[in-house]
Formats: sequence, C-alpha cells, structure tokens
Amino acid sequence: ISDDTPPLTLSERSLAAVADFIKFGKARRIVVMTGAGISTAAGIPDFRSPETGLYANLAALNLPEPEAVFDLSFFRENPRPFYALAGELHPGTARYRPTVSHAFVALLARRRLLHMLFTQNIDCLERAAGIPPDRIVEAHGSFASQRCIDCKRVFADARMRECVARGEVPRCGGDSDHDDDAGHGTSRSGCGGLVKPDIVFFGEALPRAFFEQMDRAREADLILVMGTSLQVHPFAGLPNFAGETVPRVLFNLELVGSLGTRADDVMVLGDCDAGVRKLADELGWRDELEKTWREL
Ligand code: APR
Repeated sequence: ISDDTPPLTLSERSLAAVADFIKFGKARRIVVMTGAGISTAAGIPDFRSPETGLYANLAALNLPEPEAVFDLSFFRENPRPFYALAGELHPGTARYRPTVSHAFVALLARRRLLHMLFTQNIDCLERAAGIPPDRIVEAHGSFASQRCIDCKRVFADARMRECVARGEVPRCGGDSDHDDDAGHGTSRSGCGGLVKPDIVFFGEALPRAFFEQMDRAREADLILVMGTSLQVHPFAGLPNFAGETVPRVLFNLELVGSLGTRADDVMVLGDCDAGVRKLADELGWRDELEKTWREL
C-alpha cells in the first residue's frame, strides 16, 4: 500500500485520526484482540520475546522444546514442568495486577464501545480489570477451572490451589500424586488420572465460545490488536475477519501478522501501555484511564 492511497475511513493513519473516529461515534462495536504482551508490564513474561520470554527461560526444565510445557502428550508423560510453571502463573497463587492496557479495555466496556475482547492470555487479568465476562472470549482457556484429562471429572478449585501452591501434581480423586506415593490411593472417588487446568494445550481444540463468537470480529467497526505475535492459529486469523474498510490499530513492540497491509491499518509500535495512554490523551480520557487503573 503506497502512502498516497486514499484512506477509506480514517483521515490519516494516526492515533489522532483513530481518536476522532471514536469521538465522532463511528466506532460503536470495537473488537479487541490481545496476547501476552499486555501482561508483561504486570510482571508476567510473554512467550516469544527473545530474552525475557517464557520459551527462552524454560531451559531449567530441560524440555525437548519449550512449547512442550503446553503439549498434551508431553504432559501425560511428565506433568511436572507444567506444574512448576503453573505455580508462578496460577491466579490463585500469583498476585498480579491488571495493566493500563487492561484498564483501557475496561474503559471501552464501561463506555459501551466494547463489542468483544478475544484474549489468548490465561492469567484472568481481563476479569480482574472488570471487563464484563460476556465481553471476554478466553480463546486459549484459563486457569479458572480444571478437570481430569482422562475421565474429564471436574477438580475442585480449592484443592487445585493447594496442589499448585505446594508445587504438586493433582490427580483425579486424590489430592495430589503425593497421596498416591504414600499408598493412600485415590482417597475420594476418582480415576487417578492427571488433572489439568482448562487452558488450551497445543493440539487441543479451542473452547466452543471462540467459534461461537468469532463472527463478532466480522461485525467490528474498529479493531485493536495488542501485545501478540499472532503466531498461533486460529486466533492469529482474527484480525483478517475485519471488513476491508474497518480500521485496525496495532499496539505492539513489533509489526505482526497482516497489520500494515491495509489502507486503514494504524501501527503504534512500542510499549502497549504507552500506546493506549497516547490514544487516551487524544480522546480526552487520560484522567479516567489512570483513575480506572489505580482502582484495580
Ligand atoms: N508492549 C507491546 N508489545 C509487547 C510488550 C509490551 N509491553 N511486551 C511484549 N510485546 C509483544 C512482543 O513483541 C510479541 O510480539 O507481544 C507479543 C507477545 O507474543 P508472544 O510471546 O508470542 O505471546 P502471544 O502472542 O500471546 O502467544 C500466543 O502462544 O504459546 C502460545 O498459547 C500460548 O497464548 C499463547 C500463544
């Protein structure tokens, strides 16, 4: 796309133009797509950033390859690396706070401009930010619930938190494999199978909600993509569901996916919190944004 291509919708490819678009009421169905990049400021590493990403720091767990930590067949063979990681990420044990980027999406929801948030994150910070659950699709599941990978029996949240806090592997019917070792077997009714949080492992199907809500992305009149490498499908295809004349704004350290190939793509390359603060300034929402974030 050469720069002199007449923009179809925005006056120019800038945050000021995006702010005008919103202020003049042309964006009432904003669809937001997020990844781990919006939680790095909360202290949760993303996956693929070279130095700080999770996949660059799992060497201690001597995995065949980093992604194995989220691979179902590897988990069956050796669930310990995942549970070593879960201890840091599980909302029950971890004390992470939503970021300014989460607060911005909560602000959109409060102003009834959020059509849907699709997130790949499993940290539940979107819920913690006060975004209404019916406006959130956790495309890769979350730690909010867990079940046996064999008999699918749901495992109690409280017992899960105990196991994760103790770094133990929970088993169906037992408290953890520690019990089995002690020969108590499955103290309660259960098959003894491994328990796994309802997060989507590689090779697993995405939650039904993702496929049910996918069309929301086609109904969007503005798309915001924040903090994702868009490496993992089918989520990565979502930005392309937007209609040709729908502006798409990328808040990301790097250019990703097909962003930048359409006349009304706006690239805000850099820290996403800084990017949404700039947009809030253009919108005159900056004080409200900071107040929202402070109160989280
Ligand atoms: N501001 C803006 N962008 C950031 C920031 C930040 N503070 N921190 C990181 N990023 C960018 C990185 O440059 C990268 O492009 O966010 C993106 C994070 O990409 P990934 O680490 O690949 O995370 P994500 O896209 O969420 O991964 C998708 O992969 O491992 C699977 O299931 C897992 O949901 C995850 C999926």
